[in-house]
Amino acid sequence: MSVERQSFGFMPDGTEIFKYIITNASECSAHVLTLGATLQALFMKDKDGGLRDVTLGFDTVEDYLTRSDYQGATVGPYCNRISPAELTINGTSYPLTVNERGITCLHAAGECNLAVWKAIVVDADCVEFSYLSPDGQNGFPGNKEITVQYRLTEDDRLQIRYKATADKDTYLNFTNHSYFNLNGYAAGSILSHSMTLFADEYTPVDANSIPTGGNLPVAGTPFDFTSAHSIGERIEAEHEQLRFTGGYDHNFCVRGEPGALRPAAEVLSKESGIVMRVETTLPGVQFYAGNFLSGIPGKAGVPMDKRTGFCLETQYYPDTPHRPEFPSCLFKAGEAYESETVYAFSVAD
Ligand code: BGC
Repeated sequence: MSVERQSFGFMPDGTEIFKYIITNASECSAHVLTLGATLQALFMKDKDGGLRDVTLGFDTVEDYLTRSDYQGATVGPYCNRISPAELTINGTSYPLTVNERGITCLHAAGECNLAVWKAIVVDADCVEFSYLSPDGQNGFPGNKEITVQYRLTEDDRLQIRYKATADKDTYLNFTNHSYFNLNGYAAGSILSHSMTLFADEYTPVDANSIPTGGNLPVAGTPFDFTSAHSIGERIEAEHEQLRFTGGYDHNFCVRGEPGALRPAAEVLSKESGIVMRVETTLPGVQFYAGNFLSGIPGKAGVPMDKRTGFCLETQYYPDTPHRPEFPSCLFKAGEAYESETVYAFSVAD
């Protein structure tokens, strides 16, 4: 195992951005930036032993700042949507920055993903990123000390561990927003990828992608991925939920007890033979099929077209602050938020 540090460019104010590359004995590697604690590249072995970079993204700091789509980033302190954009905690109302449809706070209005994080090499296989989110940033209460550890193991598991504490009661919800293409970032559509989700229920949304409350069973719907289906098979099916979101863009309720690491998803591409299994301690996973990718140029200038990458964003459910029936992510002052998500790679026989 080794960790190498390279310069990745500069912020407009001159701050240098670094890329940390964790490489294992079989030459698989995870490349993580101090900008947004962003997974910029992830090289994994295909069925022929070749390395493929299975995440979309950019080559420059400027592109990450101007064209994000939240590519690869650590998103927080509250990922996904809160709508209306306000929190009420202990009787006090905290208005949040609105950055979607004039009513919603999406991905904390882009805080963690645009921040410059400090990095330390923890071990030959692990780098830790830390960021202090100031009290009141985009309306979220509390000074929040956040750390994210990326570790790549010899058996090709990318482990991401999050820890955070705040000095006021506050809502915390972190995710990684990588767009994956198991044939490689330049390989085009992900619709033939085969997807299994370890989820018997999902949280339906309204036309603004805000949960309408409670969970619905996936059985008998295009949301049933309890056995493997290609992403494309039913994505255009006549179903109100798919119409509202323009394709899969929903929170699935991961089977089993939150707090324990358990499978959330397994994805296979027959073309490359690459299998990605997602495990998490969190209650939910947002399966987003890249419906809004609009062709902007990414790495090596390759356009990131609609549905050329998919996301599996592990999370507390969206809009939890307004949904008492969802697992709570309100943390008391000084109480630790901790979670772990693993993207584990192998090759299909
Ligand atoms: C959301 C999508 C959104 C994307 C980029 C995902 O987490 O579910 O609706 O387009 O992030 O912002």
